[in-house]
Amino acid sequence: MNKEIQRMDELYKILARHAHLYYDLDAPEISDFEYDALVRELKELELKHPELVNENSPTKRVGGAAASSFAKVQHKTPMLSLDNVFNLSELENFYSRLNLEKLEFTCEMKIDGAAVSLIYEDGKFIRGATRGDGKIGEDITENLRAIKSLPKAIKAKGLVEVRGEVLMKWDSFNNLNKSRELKGESLFANPRNAASGTLRQLDAKIVEQRGLDIFLYYLVDAESHGVKTQSEVLNWLIENNLPVQPVWQKCVGLEQVNNFILEWQDKRFELDYVTDGAVIKLDDLTLWNKIGATSHAPRWAVAYKYPPEVASAKLLSIDVSVGRTGVLTPVANLEPVRLAGTQVSRAGLHNFDEIKRKDIRVGDIVKVRKAAEIIPEIIEVDKSLRNGSEKIFEEPVTCPACGERVVKVHGEVALRCVNRASCPAQLKESIVYFASRSGLNIMGLGDKLAEQLVNSQRVKILSDLYDLSLDEWASFDKMGVKSASKILAELEKSKTQPAANLIAALGIRYVGKTAAEILCNNFNNFEDLKNASAEKLAEIEGIGEVTAESVRAFFDDKANLELLNKLEAHGLNFKLNNNLQAENNKLAGKIFVFTGELSSLKRDDAANLVKALGGKVTNSVSSKTNYLVAGDKGGSKLSKAESLGVKIIDEQEFLNLIKA
Ligand code: IVH
Repeated sequence: MNKEIQRMDELYKILARHAHLYYDLDAPEISDFEYDALVRELKELELKHPELVNENSPTKRVGGAAASSFAKVQHKTPMLSLDNVFNLSELENFYSRLNLEKLEFTCEMKIDGAAVSLIYEDGKFIRGATRGDGKIGEDITENLRAIKSLPKAIKAKGLVEVRGEVLMKWDSFNNLNKSRELKGESLFANPRNAASGTLRQLDAKIVEQRGLDIFLYYLVDAESHGVKTQSEVLNWLIENNLPVQPVWQKCVGLEQVNNFILEWQDKRFELDYVTDGAVIKLDDLTLWNKIGATSHAPRWAVAYKYPPEVASAKLLSIDVSVGRTGVLTPVANLEPVRLAGTQVSRAGLHNFDEIKRKDIRVGDIVKVRKAAEIIPEIIEVDKSLRNGSEKIFEEPVTCPACGERVVKVHGEVALRCVNRASCPAQLKESIVYFASRSGLNIMGLGDKLAEQLVNSQRVKILSDLYDLSLDEWASFDKMGVKSASKILAELEKSKTQPAANLIAALGIRYVGKTAAEILCNNFNNFEDLKNASAEKLAEIEGIGEVTAESVRAFFDDKANLELLNKLEAHGLNFKLNNNLQAENNKLAGKIFVFTGELSSLKRDDAANLVKALGGKVTNSVSSKTNYLVAGDKGGSKLSKAESLGVKIIDEQEFLNLIKA
């Protein structure tokens, strides 16, 4: 009993963390399958202890909260989620709850993407929004407009709201991750994260480049369009040229539904997009209103979630990689095996405790599972197939990159290399991170080049990057003078990046871009930030105790102070936003929106200038917007600004405004 209560409390914390990673950061650490399993465990405990149910329980949650940079949109009809079933007997329970004689369903594949709502007025696409928390979403009209397969005009007249899923097909996803890898940027774990991460971009150009797609499956107020069943809805959407996911079928009777589900369990891997289940919807729309919905999901539909695919493979060896913060991670090399439509030869092992716990030995035949993530994981060993030649894997006592001691930090499962200052693996990863988009965005400085910088010992500390000459850069493999001069220009540009980017680039644990911005906004100058006590840091809204300790520890380390001095001597920007605002906050309280292409400035740089002068930049025009800065080829934002009486200025007027 007591244990159950403790576990509930623990699950609330664990799930809150994973929901934040998934919904807000698009960077999940566990698969959907594992997340769902934890939610189910919590649901069962909540049923036993209803008096202890937390009102913000993830079992009631529909999606993420609306992100701040986009205007909020209230959904006229709430955007609901779906209840899940995980096997045919749970599906039987769904059928019995319906308590109906005539069982006709439309079965569709469940698309693993980001839910959106689109509004057409007299045939014209006028607005699109994310689901958000189901009631309030984000206005992402411009980003949706950048999706080629989304029709900007349809036949149907009057007000039409359709809903569906934005997704990234495998081709676009693989291309995107390939190019991110080349640039040394972090990879998206799966196409769904890539799709929702892309939809959050403030620049619709990026959306266009990345190639998103959309499938629609829901027509709000369908009866008013003369449509009576879900299968008719899908045909109505098709007639209006709205893209519909092609795998669907009207099923009469339960046998047909079960056959559809089983038929597509494996065949779905032949599709060029990710599906994680089938959605079973009562076909007759008049029943939808009668049967109704809970606050979270309709009772007339259910999602049948397929189990993640599992295959057996031989474990050939275990590599140990060293990350930016010195954490050692084991990775399994497998004899290649086909799994969930792709060839797999590596699998994640999370940490060394897991190898022990699961008694995984080199030479074992292991079961690998692939859920939504690209990297599969080892679930268990088939011990019955052992022949005695399997070798126990010895946990490393030294770092494979520098030979220094490794330690297990109290309270953590991870092993860490203690050599923060000069472990080449950590240094390489730190360089890649420093130069990534999360940091100073130094284009062209990716994995391969960072490795050469470290191996040649030309870079021993991050600030050494700024000491290399053109000839030295040109001497590296695959470089040459042209690339070398580009890198030098990029390094110069990095000196003008806002201090928040620089702080984020340092790779202080738990301090990404958001925390770095909060820190910048709460101190008048860098010196004060550097000297702030952990208590003072923890008092700042948005900085928790753990982050505060980590920031303090970073500034307490002499090697870091030496690095900061050197970076400052090279002219990197240590002026906190407050500084600039204190000197000149003439845009304080002013809200800017940008549209179209600017000729002399990049959008990000323009936005940074506005922020540095105390202003705010949002993505869509509303009555609160003060200025719409219109570059070349501005689109619908112009007409919206005109209709709302928002002041429209061109690039030159913008430059005058910030200079004045
Ligand atoms: S119908 C009122 N059909 O899965 C219920 N949803 O996990 C509307 N999804 O919230 C949902 N494919 O975002 C429906 N063919 C499909 C779907 C689908 C993917 C998404 C949708 C839903 C989520 C639930």
